[in-house]
Amino acid sequence: MITTGQGKNGIINILGIESSCDETAASVVRNGREMLSNVIASQIDTHTLYGGVVPEIASRKHIEVIVQVVREALKEADVSIKDIDAIGVTMGPGLVGPLLVGVSYAKAYAYGLGLPLIGVNHIEGHICANYIENKELEPPFMCLIVSGGHTHLVNVKDYGEYEILGRTMDDAAGEAFDKVARAIGLGYPGGPKIDKASKEGNPEAVMFPRSRIEGDEYDFSFSGLKSAVLNYLNSCDMKGEEYKREDIAASFQAAVVDVLLDNSMRAVEKYGVKTFALAGGVASNTALRKAFEDACRDRGIKLYRPSPVLCTDNGAMIASAAYYAFSRGKVSSLDLNAKANLRLGETV
Ligand code: KG4
Ligand code: ZN
Repeated sequence: MITTGQGKNGIINILGIESSCDETAASVVRNGREMLSNVIASQIDTHTLYGGVVPEIASRKHIEVIVQVVREALKEADVSIKDIDAIGVTMGPGLVGPLLVGVSYAKAYAYGLGLPLIGVNHIEGHICANYIENKELEPPFMCLIVSGGHTHLVNVKDYGEYEILGRTMDDAAGEAFDKVARAIGLGYPGGPKIDKASKEGNPEAVMFPRSRIEGDEYDFSFSGLKSAVLNYLNSCDMKGEEYKREDIAASFQAAVVDVLLDNSMRAVEKYGVKTFALAGGVASNTALRKAFEDACRDRGIKLYRPSPVLCTDNGAMIASAAYYAFSRGKVSSLDLNAKANLRLGETV
């Protein structure tokens, strides 16, 4: 068992590994907040050829680069493996093949070096991305997590303690961005392309529906909106009418932002929240950030949102989440398995 570096001088360095989708990422984070390195190998170029993430190809790509990515993360952090106190790895939710690459690698690494292993929930990781750049941020706060696979409105009651107020009933916000982008010919990955195209479009050109789920105050639904966009495009085609795709992008984006903001602000008012955080890939959307900045300023609420590089998948958020689990004495055993549909708050 290697003990060098374990909690020396009150310092805990955690190596975080992320491979749940199409980014192989590793990072060293000190005491949960200080990011010493952040290495991300994106597979976007490969999956662009297919118009979306191909899970089997993603798994193989993770295997090809994971060793190099971890080495780079240690090098960039200017630490040796002896300075690492524990390894955090995303164990779910996500694509099971890609998850297994990270989990197997982390298990072997932890076993070989006698280091504690901590299985991390990816959604919790996204929330923790906010801790890295904001040393003063502490629970309780409310967080909206909007990514390619998830849309959750959560009360963060304490470190590792979450109350889910609302979630999507069908498509995730990012998934809707990706599908609509494909339909209007912008390609993959859809979110950043719609964001960019929207800047040249009119958000009021088409009034797309803003869905509210009856009875479920804070749940979300985006499949109706996606169908409305597809129907609009079809009817234009059938009538031989032209449409400006920047207008469709901007109008769709405005509808998504309205729904996310409306649910969030109703919850903020009901729970008397003073601190709100955004998280996940879609949280890098320019219109979303602006809408939340304005709404929070008007209500006197302190808003946190990670820099775009920490909104999308990264290893630093996993290391931060692992740190807080480790501090609470949570360590996984070496029979840790990947779980594609792991729920937020599910214990590991
Ligand atoms: O958090 P993330 O990197 O991976 C998941 O956990 O899913 O999020 C990826 C999602 C994709 O759907 C992508 O299109 C979306 O985040 N995204 C954006 C933007 N940047 C990434 N959506 C809207 N606007 C953006 N600027
Ligand atoms: Zn993610």
